[in-house]
Amino acid sequence: MNETLNTLFNHVSVREYLDRKVDDETLNLILKAACSGSTMGNMQLFSVIVTRDEAMKQKLAPLHFNQPMATKAPLILTFCADFRRFNRYCEFRDAETEAYSNLQSYHWAVIDALIAAQNACVAAESLGLGFCWLGTITYNVDKFIEVLNLPKHVIPVACIPMGYPVAKPALTQKLPVEAMVHYETYQDYDKEKIDHLYAEKESSEETQQLLRENNLPNLAQIFTQKRYVKADNEHFAKVLLDALKKQGFMQ
Ligand SMILES: Cc1cc2nc3c(=O)[nH]c(=O)nc-3n(C[C@H](O)[C@H](O)[C@H](O)COP(=O)(O)O)c2cc1C
Repeated sequence: MNETLNTLFNHVSVREYLDRKVDDETLNLILKAACSGSTMGNMQLFSVIVTRDEAMKQKLAPLHFNQPMATKAPLILTFCADFRRFNRYCEFRDAETEAYSNLQSYHWAVIDALIAAQNACVAAESLGLGFCWLGTITYNVDKFIEVLNLPKHVIPVACIPMGYPVAKPALTQKLPVEAMVHYETYQDYDKEKIDHLYAEKESSEETQQLLRENNLPNLAQIFTQKRYVKADNEHFAKVLLDALKKQGFMQ
């Protein structure tokens, strides 16, 4: 197996970091990897906010619901869908700017930001760092916009604390590859297929322990009743829609 595949196949989220800084040379390699990926029309519709300052981490921490990675990691990269820079370029070259003030533009910018984020992650792992994405960046988007001083046409989409791992955790159990793959056309999931694809995950000791702790009959109900609850999802969807309007991506 080559080194790239080895890095990819051994990915695991790391939530505890050594008290060791990420030096500028390493950071710059990660940033260069982030900026080297495919991008819509080569417009590079993303930005990365580098957080290293302790005071800034403390400001952001409550927005990440005080997850320890948000303060303990030496480095945090926040990737934003960003049409600001390209719109400014158009503005200063007498090109039409309103062409990119719509949901389609946001969609492109999100894709670019996620490609950049994943490139940064692969680079970081290949350099011996560990990281853990923080989904909390997608919750109170409006507050992150304020604290990070994001102008119109910029929305944060991925936040990734990084550092040197205290220890390399065991690989996380995943669904079999066949669960995600469809050949030629989409093959929908009936009960039999779902039973088959989730069998291993459902019978694992980790799942059994979660069921005992939560006193619930299955993993799906842990998701819908505990982890990502409808009322919260609907609330944060509204926050996101409002932010999309405020940032100029929707009327
Ligand atoms: C969009 C996204 C948001 C995530 N948010 C969190 C988070 O807020 N806290 C956390 O501990 N892990 C978070 N994770 C990490 C996932 O839990 C982890 O990637 C998943 O369980 C698979 O494990 P692995 O990364 O070790 O393969 C997030 C991952 C992604 C891609």
